This record gives sequence, C-alpha cells and structure tokens, in this order.
Amino acid sequence: MNQIQKFLQMTGDLRRDPKVRAMGRIAHHTERISCLNHCLFVSYVGYRLSRFLGGDARAIAKGGLLHDLYLCDWKKERSLYRHLLVHPEMAVRNAQSFHLTALEAGIIRKHMWPVTFFAFPTRREEFIVNLADKICAVAEVTGLYWHLNCCKSLAALGE
Ligand SMILES: [Fe+2]
Ligand SMILES: [Fe+2]
Repeated sequence: MNQIQKFLQMTGDLRRDPKVRAMGRIAHHTERISCLNHCLFVSYVGYRLSRFLGGDARAIAKGGLLHDLYLCDWKKERSLYRHLLVHPEMAVRNAQSFHLTALEAGIIRKHMWPVTFFAFPTRREEFIVNLADKICAVAEVTGLYWHLNCCKSLAALGE
C-alpha cells in the first residue's frame, strides 16, 4: 500500500461525511480550488510531514482535514482580516461533532498562527499542520498545486 492509499484509509469515514463534503462548495485561496481540496491537501501534507517530524499522524490527518471547516462564504464577510482571525474558532465549533480531542482542537485553533498571535502552536502536531497549511497555500496560489501528482489524486476525491 502506498502513502496516499494509507492516507485515504486513515481518513475514509471523515472524507465521506456530508459536513466535510460541504466544504467542496466553497472556494478557498483560489476560485478553482475548493476548501475541501485545500483541506485534503493540508491533511495529506501534514500526514507525510509526520513521517519525518513525528507526532500523532492520525490526529494530524484529522485536524488537517477539519482545520478550515468554517462553512461560510468568506467573500461575503465584512472584512477579510476579521475572517482570518475568526475562522479557526468557527472551524473548531463546527468540528466538535467529530468528537475532537484537545490535541485535534488545538491543531485547528492554532493553524493560522502568527496571524492569530496568541494562538501559537505548542505541540508538535499543531506545528506540523500550521506548516502544512502554509506550504499548501503557497502551492495553491502559485499554481504548483496543478503539477503535483498527489494533488491530482486528492482533487479527484473532492469533486
Ligand atoms: Fe484557515
Ligand atoms: Fe487552511
């Protein structure tokens, strides 16, 4: 079984949940990449990073997949800056139905640091997803996303 198959097995039930699928209808960093595809990407990159950096791979995959579960169209928000500050807490609230552990809630809550200055990562898993989110955002905004094989597989799941 290759890494992407292991990742898919680990996240199977969560990926199929209607609440998670609802992120597929929300555009995220770019119009062409949904919030669901971004979250799948972050979850997968975090999962792969954990092989080298350690940490609880299952909590990283779950926290990564739920980290942007804010479920609203942020372009309709009054202020983009406000959205940047509040969406991690919105995601924690929406993800509570998935029985979050304290570690998983921390991963979601702290993914925007340093924008959310006081929510800084203190645990390895929080740091890994924070880093994965930034790597993925850069890949999406620059278009590198479309050239990565893992993204092609992950994007197909989000369709
Ligand atoms: Fe986010
Ligand atoms: Fe994100």
